[in-house]
Amino acid sequence: MTALLPNLMPQPARRAALDGPPLPAGVRLVPRFDGARSARLEAACARLPAAPSGPPVPLVLDCGASPALPALDDDESYRLTIAAEAVTVRAATEWGALRGLATLTQCLDGGPVPAVLIEDRPRFPWRGLMLDVARHFLSPAALHRTLDAMAVFKLNVLHLHLSDDQAFRFPSARFPELASPAHYRRDELDALVRAAADRGIRVVPELDVPGHATAWLTARPEWGSRPAPPSRRFGVHQACLDPTRPAVREAVRVLFGELADVFPDACLHLGGDEVHPAWWSEDEAVAAFMAEHGLADVAALQAWFTAEVAAAIAALGRVPLGWDEVLHPGLPTSVAVQAWRGATARDRALLAGHDCIVSAPYYLDLMLPADVHARFPPDAPEAELIEQENALLRDPRLAHVAAGMAWTHQWREVAGPPAAPRPGRLLGAEACLWAELVDEAVLDQRLWGRLPALAELFWSGAVAAGDPLRARLDAVRSNLPRWTGIDLDAALRAGVEAAGVEPAWWPLVEALEPVKWYGRLLGETALAARIAGREMPQSRPYDADTPLNRVVDHLPCECRVAGRLRRLLDAEAAGDRQAAGTLRALAEGWAALPDRAGPDELAEPARALRRLGDELLGVLDGRSDAAAAGQALAALGRPRGEYLLGPVPLLADWLARRELPGES
Ligand code: ACM
Repeated sequence: MTALLPNLMPQPARRAALDGPPLPAGVRLVPRFDGARSARLEAACARLPAAPSGPPVPLVLDCGASPALPALDDDESYRLTIAAEAVTVRAATEWGALRGLATLTQCLDGGPVPAVLIEDRPRFPWRGLMLDVARHFLSPAALHRTLDAMAVFKLNVLHLHLSDDQAFRFPSARFPELASPAHYRRDELDALVRAAADRGIRVVPELDVPGHATAWLTARPEWGSRPAPPSRRFGVHQACLDPTRPAVREAVRVLFGELADVFPDACLHLGGDEVHPAWWSEDEAVAAFMAEHGLADVAALQAWFTAEVAAAIAALGRVPLGWDEVLHPGLPTSVAVQAWRGATARDRALLAGHDCIVSAPYYLDLMLPADVHARFPPDAPEAELIEQENALLRDPRLAHVAAGMAWTHQWREVAGPPAAPRPGRLLGAEACLWAELVDEAVLDQRLWGRLPALAELFWSGAVAAGDPLRARLDAVRSNLPRWTGIDLDAALRAGVEAAGVEPAWWPLVEALEPVKWYGRLLGETALAARIAGREMPQSRPYDADTPLNRVVDHLPCECRVAGRLRRLLDAEAAGDRQAAGTLRALAEGWAALPDRAGPDELAEPARALRRLGDELLGVLDGRSDAAAAGQALAALGRPRGEYLLGPVPLLADWLARRELPGES
């Protein structure tokens, strides 16, 4: 890890120290346009962290003019020079200049900036974020805030999942009855597309067909083969469009036409995931249609329908994109595939000739620590990805859900279509935030604690071994308010205070994490059924109306104390007496936590953290036997409801290292 601007995220391709003094803190950067000048560039300069009364320093922008909209394969390379007397951004395009300004933003962390030359370009042209705005509505303001932050981390595709079983958020002119009470207006979507383009971000819209369509069918029951009452529950639904009806195919064609009118991007996403077979396989008219068209099974019927929708999208001059279930022999290779089911879906798509975006390892709703995601470069060989998936089952932080995660390994057995003469192209990757447990109040916490690490993976490639990712993410976290106005710690504090937590329990809040993977969403009963391979019960702890206002909703995925604790444990292990003292103080604080200073559901986690404090003091004092302490830690590492004690795996690791003197 370089010592020069170590906290840039993404790390740039190349940087070199320049002779000369640093750019002082608090200067006022005054734009000068040596190449293209546009409202877009002026606005981007105006968004730089401001020091309006500081001494002026020229900010020279020298780039070629770009069209109104960004596109795949735009040249995003740039060259940024920072010196005391001037800052210069040179690029072939405005898109490259915007990326250079993003790097400059990150250099402005409140201190002097060392004189530096940065030359940079992305590894992948598609670096996306999918937001599920169906399960919970996200206001335009939340989306604009997200675009601002995406730009700071050089993400360049916002994929909006606009419809699902619970809601339909797109304002159709022809079928206005589809729109849920909370939906976007046309002018709001126009403004969003414009704001995105001004930041070099494409907006790719998705209408998910033919499954995940309960909301369509509550408005238009005649588009399905059975009645579908409105649903607020989560999980795969049986309701799906009946593709054998001409009216359904015509409606879908019209809707994608309307979508294309609003969203100018080259890609339109047709969904295609998780189609439940029940309705199609139990309907006589559907069976007759399949026989007539020589469709052997419901998978063939879905493929037939996907090809119809893909043709309608192609007729609009756009590229169809679907989740990896769309893969089927005979699917036109012009359909791009978003791989989400495990390590092997990507290569199935590529080998069959489809361009591909990887999302499987980047599901932010699984509440996994950032370093877990960062182990999966989008272009790593499949065998390495499988090995990484296997390794997750041995990660002590994920032990409580390992059996559930192992269930997904069955996706490796899914057969792909035959190999095409030419493989497809790996376009890049997309992080996904499914929003069953995400509303506007917790959105930022779910995104920005970890997404910068993924943005780096997509822009720069794999992180180097030994990379201090956690520390760099903590640095990002503390700079976010300056760069984006998003303050994750203030949001955390406000959220837990509103949930009734008193300051005496702040050390508890700092030590807690939500359970991982689908632990919260499934709940204990459904999770146990999934692990046992049984049909999962439909009843779940959450539906779309459950308030997301408990402490667990606001907690970051990695506990707030993790970074500090890791540094203290490392220093203590290296014999640092002061660190040992600080560690002791932390343990004493835990051991002395009051019984009650917040909601009932935290009483048990508080008891467990007190015990953890006692155990740690016992080890530090040499009172407790290491084997007994290890056993105690194992018990304390189990979930308490939806909560985990985040320090336990760190302490277990530290304890194991103490037991093995001489090993490193
Ligand atoms: C998906 O996660 N159902 C694409």
